[in-house]
Amino acid sequence: MTTAREAAPAEAGAPPASCPADGHDPLGCQLSRRRLFRNAAVAGTVVAAGAALAACGSGPSKPSGPTTLGKSSAIPVGGGVIFAAQDVVVTQPAAGTFKAFSATCTHLGCQVNTVARGLIQCPCHGSMYSIVDGSVKAGPAPAPLPPERITVRNSEIVLDG
Ligand code: FES
Repeated sequence: MTTAREAAPAEAGAPPASCPADGHDPLGCQLSRRRLFRNAAVAGTVVAAGAALAACGSGPSKPSGPTTLGKSSAIPVGGGVIFAAQDVVVTQPAAGTFKAFSATCTHLGCQVNTVARGLIQCPCHGSMYSIVDGSVKAGPAPAPLPPERITVRNSEIVLDG
């Protein structure tokens, strides 16, 4: 006859049911507990990575057709503005010179969220891009931010579709 405890399937890495709960810990139980903790750590890492990818990969979709983003005067010289809904960042590296780039980081797809000190910054893993040409200045990003086409019409920035 078997008891319910003996009949339950053993979980991978779990200490055997025969490990005492009184503090006496034979070597076999220590190894099993170590394996359990190691498996739990690996599982936690996998879950965290999956959550990060899910957060990064759900960006906005690009609009089709020309879209007016706003007044060119709203783009600071030496800085830029992120238009999150259109997934584009518009910069003005020098007075009267406007540039636009995808706002999707080329590392794992998070949306950039800050433009400061001449850099477009990704919050996820610290990649930084130049406001001049979108080139990578720091971080794990493998490639520049792709350029986007814009036109300045009547002092308004229009994202060409
Ligand atoms: Fe990793 Fe941007 S997604 S640095």
